[in-house]
Amino acid sequence: MLIDTYGRVATDLRVSLTDRCNLRCTYCMPEEGLQWLAKPDLLTDDEIVRLIDIAVRDLGIEEVRFTGGEPLLRPGLVGIVERVAALAPRPQMSLTTNGIGLERTAAALRDAGLDRVNVSLDTLRPDVFQKMTRRKRHDDVLRGLEAARAAGLTPVKVNAVLMPSLNDDEAPDLLAWAIEHDYELRFIEQMPLDAQHGWKRDGMITAGDILTSLRTRFELTPEAQDERGSAPAERWVVDGGPHRVGVIASVTRPFCRACDRTRLTADGQIRTCLFATEETDLRTALRSDAPDAEIARIWKLAMWGKKAGSGLDDPSFLQPERPMSAIGG
Ligand code: 5AD
Ligand code: SF4
Repeated sequence: MLIDTYGRVATDLRVSLTDRCNLRCTYCMPEEGLQWLAKPDLLTDDEIVRLIDIAVRDLGIEEVRFTGGEPLLRPGLVGIVERVAALAPRPQMSLTTNGIGLERTAAALRDAGLDRVNVSLDTLRPDVFQKMTRRKRHDDVLRGLEAARAAGLTPVKVNAVLMPSLNDDEAPDLLAWAIEHDYELRFIEQMPLDAQHGWKRDGMITAGDILTSLRTRFELTPEAQDERGSAPAERWVVDGGPHRVGVIASVTRPFCRACDRTRLTADGQIRTCLFATEETDLRTALRSDAPDAEIARIWKLAMWGKKAGSGLDDPSFLQPERPMSAIGG
């Protein structure tokens, strides 16, 4: 098991498949993109599948979430999903994507064994989308979402980040739209993980702001505690149900005590937390023919050093060196 000194057990593995992306969300990347990881530094498909195999067989991982950057940009994605679906025990598998290209790949991903997708969409307005992502791809995302639902990658979850004076008035519209299309909407507080270090606590839209805004149009009742489990989203039942809305308040209501995650970057580093300032190298061991037991030992040791929390609420908080796109969301 991947247990830490606070008694938390990691059963959820986030695997970043690439640090590249075809959008440039302002809360994530600068216009010109970033210095991408070099090809030889990226784990190969074989290396990724081997690590996931060790994770499910020896380390108690039950759920694998593929992230990026944009994971649909990874050429071998469908093959990786297929091979992970054949592992024993077979983990639950989901994908966090910006939705571009999902229209083309949703059915193949489903056939390969993917269970679900989370699609990022912050706005229903194409002009605001272009401002927020610096690309004219709003329609591709909407089509990707439709394709995901049609392929049975359900429940399709939609992640939205609200930014001041861009889309902070859109929470009720987004919820009405999500209910109409049967997507499960979750708002995520903007976190200090952008490459440009432009995050400001004062400027951010908080969970409190989001709930106030939603309540102008909907009646929200908190979901029973036992339904939440370790999921970071706090959920509310909308207008008596059956639809729900989630808020992931990483900044104002952190959920670190219930954290069950471990993360693998595209270049083979273990991170115990999105906000960790240290990483543990697995790639070197992988490439020097270390046996599975040795890799499992390094991974367990890394998790044993997991800190109690993100440190976001501490004035001495230091933003991690790598941005979200290189860590995996
Ligand atoms: N704060 C909050 N959410 C972010 N995401 C990317 N960067 C940030 C940030 N700085 C979101 C994306 C996606 C998910 C992986 O994380 O929009 O939905
Ligand atoms: Fe790409 Fe996601 Fe970053 Fe937007 S937030 S630029 S979609 S990696």
